[in-house]
Amino acid sequence: MQNHSEMPRPAGVKVTYRRVKFAFESRGFDRYWHGSSPFKSLFWTQLSTAFGPGEKFFIDSARALGDQITDPALREELLEFCRQEGHHTLQHKKLDRMNAQLGIDVDLCRARYAWVLDRVRKVADPIDMLAVTCALEHFTAGFAEQYFAQPEIGEGADPNVRALWEWHAAEEIEHKATCYDIYRQLGGSYFGRITVLGAAWPLLIGLSVWNTFTLLRNDRKLGKLGDVIGGLRYLFGFRGLVTRMLPAFFAYFRPGFHPWSDDNSATIAAWRERSRAHIVHERGSDADPVAGAQAA
Ligand SMILES: [Fe+2]
Ligand SMILES: [Fe+2]
Repeated sequence: MQNHSEMPRPAGVKVTYRRVKFAFESRGFDRYWHGSSPFKSLFWTQLSTAFGPGEKFFIDSARALGDQITDPALREELLEFCRQEGHHTLQHKKLDRMNAQLGIDVDLCRARYAWVLDRVRKVADPIDMLAVTCALEHFTAGFAEQYFAQPEIGEGADPNVRALWEWHAAEEIEHKATCYDIYRQLGGSYFGRITVLGAAWPLLIGLSVWNTFTLLRNDRKLGKLGDVIGGLRYLFGFRGLVTRMLPAFFAYFRPGFHPWSDDNSATIAAWRERSRAHIVHERGSDADPVAGAQAA
């Protein structure tokens, strides 16, 4: 199973579909579920809407070239990748629907992400679409790494909503090399992937900020300057979430870059140990954690 051409997966890493259930569905959550901060809460709320169009784009771009993959291990990994991404979308849509019921304009946020990705679909050929996916998968993996590396990012958040983000973060790390290895095996070029990265990251961050400010304006919270400034520092301050991702951004420009050059697989194992209660079913496991799905 470890016959990927670029770099073998670290020991214990196997992209695995897990069916999950989170208590936010039954228990609900506050509109400002993240430490009572409108900025932080609405930032994550709008980001959740990106996954519907985003993960569909990832799956479509990888599947479009799936028949050309000759490595059976990578073909198998692609199937699990698609199942993981599909399940991420399903869970985030539940969160989005509940946010819509709170009167938050999640449809507008999602439409903005979808509009950009639809434009890319129209102009990019399959290998360039896959380069976009690689760039965005590198973003989600870097984001996930920071989520676990800096506990203050999730501090004060409703634990039932946070559980969703932690699961998603762990699986983004787990499958961070899947599309990259497909891209490389199918002859994707160095210049193709770095050119796309330089456009994709700023665009995604720009859309996130635009959506966050739109939701803050809708809620008449833009005047809460302490929260807005604190939120901008949370993202772009010296120790901010986006700022801390800069080394990952630049690492992608190394010609010999590979997602697993940075072995952070221990974070996946640690997440799995403390999050068994949320896993309803895990492929390849004979454990029966169904009862745990009721837990918070
Ligand atoms: Fe995902
Ligand atoms: Fe992903």
